[in-house]
Amino acid sequence: MRAAVLASGRGSNLKALLEAAERGSLPIKIVAVGSDQAGAKALELSRGAGIPTRVFPSKDYPHRQAQEEDLLIWMREHRVELLLLAGYMKVLGPQFIRQANFPILNIHPSLLPAFPGLHAQRQALEYGVKVSGCTVHFVDEGLDSGPILLQEVVPVLPGDTEESLARRILEAEHRLYPEAVRLLVAGKVKRVGRRIQLLQQEGSE
Ligand code: GAR
Repeated sequence: MRAAVLASGRGSNLKALLEAAERGSLPIKIVAVGSDQAGAKALELSRGAGIPTRVFPSKDYPHRQAQEEDLLIWMREHRVELLLLAGYMKVLGPQFIRQANFPILNIHPSLLPAFPGLHAQRQALEYGVKVSGCTVHFVDEGLDSGPILLQEVVPVLPGDTEESLARRILEAEHRLYPEAVRLLVAGKVKRVGRRIQLLQQEGSE
């Protein structure tokens, strides 16, 4: 399956996906990596791996819709069948979501629906939860609100800082995202309304 990745920063989730694909444990080919940030490390990583990249800087567009029209054209050029958001810090608009004729997944560093939006780890610490984690979900028109595919729980430890918690969650993200994509590509994911049934785990949802 031909996948595109959008990333705004470091790209460690992109790296985890690339490594899983290289190992042969994830039957996708990452055919294009885009970013809104010219300096994103994720772009460097992709160029190093020989993957075509493109920057869509927000300042070059009069409004989000124009930027997203370009994104969509670019994805069609690359015959994208799956879009993976990996630390992409812009919210995709309803028009993009409606027009994209491929699934869109996102990874978020909290147990949704807790702590959507920015600084999820800081929100978790400030709230005082004892566990947090990460979520892979389908992208819908809301903010981190689409149907949930997989989640992994991570403990919040006494003395945690935003950075230490983010690091612990990131380790889980690197396992969870490739696994979620693998299940989707293998046809093991059934959507019933906003609930996701994972077909390989009998009786579970
Ligand atoms: C990850 O923790 C990801 O879950 C988060 O940004 C980080 C990107 O790291 N995404 C969001 O907060 C999206 N709302 P990475 O660039 O190293 O993959």
